Amino acid sequence: MPKNKCVRVGYGTVSQIHETKMLECNVETVAIVEVDEQKRFQAQQEGFTVFSSCQEAAKLNPTFWDICVSTNQHLSVIQSILDSAPQANIFIEKPICLFSEIPALRRTLLNFEGKITVNENYASSTIKNMVQTIAFNELQIHPEKIVVEFTKNRELDFARGRFIDRELGSLGYEGSHMVTLVSEMLEDYVPYRILENKFSDLIFKGSDQLLENQGSAYVRYKSLSQVEIELYTSLAGTIKYKHPLFCIEDIPHDDLNSKYRFIAVYGTNYHNDKYCVVGFFEPINSFKRCQGAVYVTLNNKVERIVAPLRDDTMLLHFQQTLKYFQGVAENPYSVEKSIKIVEILNSFTDEMRFSKSLHSLV
Ligand SMILES: NC(=O)c1ccc[n+]([C@@H]2O[C@H](COP(=O)([O-])OP(=O)(O)OC[C@H]3O[C@@H](n4cnc5c(N)ncnc54)[C@H](O)[C@@H]3O)[C@@H](O)[C@H]2O)c1
Repeated sequence: MPKNKCVRVGYGTVSQIHETKMLECNVETVAIVEVDEQKRFQAQQEGFTVFSSCQEAAKLNPTFWDICVSTNQHLSVIQSILDSAPQANIFIEKPICLFSEIPALRRTLLNFEGKITVNENYASSTIKNMVQTIAFNELQIHPEKIVVEFTKNRELDFARGRFIDRELGSLGYEGSHMVTLVSEMLEDYVPYRILENKFSDLIFKGSDQLLENQGSAYVRYKSLSQVEIELYTSLAGTIKYKHPLFCIEDIPHDDLNSKYRFIAVYGTNYHNDKYCVVGFFEPINSFKRCQGAVYVTLNNKVERIVAPLRDDTMLLHFQQTLKYFQGVAENPYSVEKSIKIVEILNSFTDEMRFSKSLHSLV
């Protein structure tokens, strides 16, 4: 089979992860497009052909484009690719675009003749599949509550210039992964009633500098079928749900590697036994990279552990994406599904703005 050739747009943090995983999928990066001069120089030093616009790179006629730019640039990069390559295959990072850009994105893609798919990589997770299989096929539980936490410390990342999502605040980074995971567990994952919604600022250690709404987010809502959902993310490394076995301490600002990420599904079976199935995503202390874990509790006692479990969500999602581009698989994450996620995240931040403005009136 001929080698897949990609042009990667953006040479920041996630771009370099893509390069490693794409190499494993036998993809050749034929060029990098970057607007930042220093990053262009860095990419050139690392052996890539480098351009400053998509128009120049389009001459290479890649199999697909891999968009890894800051979220607020997603739409404009799609537009500039389509100007030169209207039938392009496009793989784009999540979230698909800013909420305010959804109408323009739909207009841009109205007569689009190529293929576009979104890197919602947790949709391809083995841990997610295992939680689903155990909870719904094996134990046949009726879900009552789903909790998702995605915590890491991003203080140094931000201080080093990694992009800041001002529209979605703390939910602009892991928020789409968290909602995607819930959407894979429940058909009616769309919020019916938001019960609680809190955002906090990120205060940099040892200074009084802060980033508004970038510290943490906590959302509690009910779905139409009355399942309660709790979503929590901290960018200051503060862990909320201390599940046994795989929990870690709060993550300090100089620890760029630790993450604490899980999904827990609570429910009862036909005999009224209370089950909780928890899937922990990598990285997990004492396990290798790309190894997660799942455990099951019955009436609050651990009764089964499946670990370590290999789960390279990016690699799995890339493999699905390449099959989609080759025409032998369904789209692993469509634009419409991705837009739904952005709309849901926006409804949470809307609430936050509303409650903040109410407070300022009191
Ligand atoms: N799927 C995941 O697990 C995952 C993980 C991290 C980030 N992301 C997503 O990846 C995207 C990038 O995040 P990041 O952390 O790598 O950001 P980053 O700030 O580290 O890098 C973005 C790069 O894009 C470049 N850029 C910006 N506008 C450009 C343009 N118009 N043309 C070419 N280059 C441009 C910037 O100069 C920068 O080098 C975001 O949308 C983010 O949400 C996804």
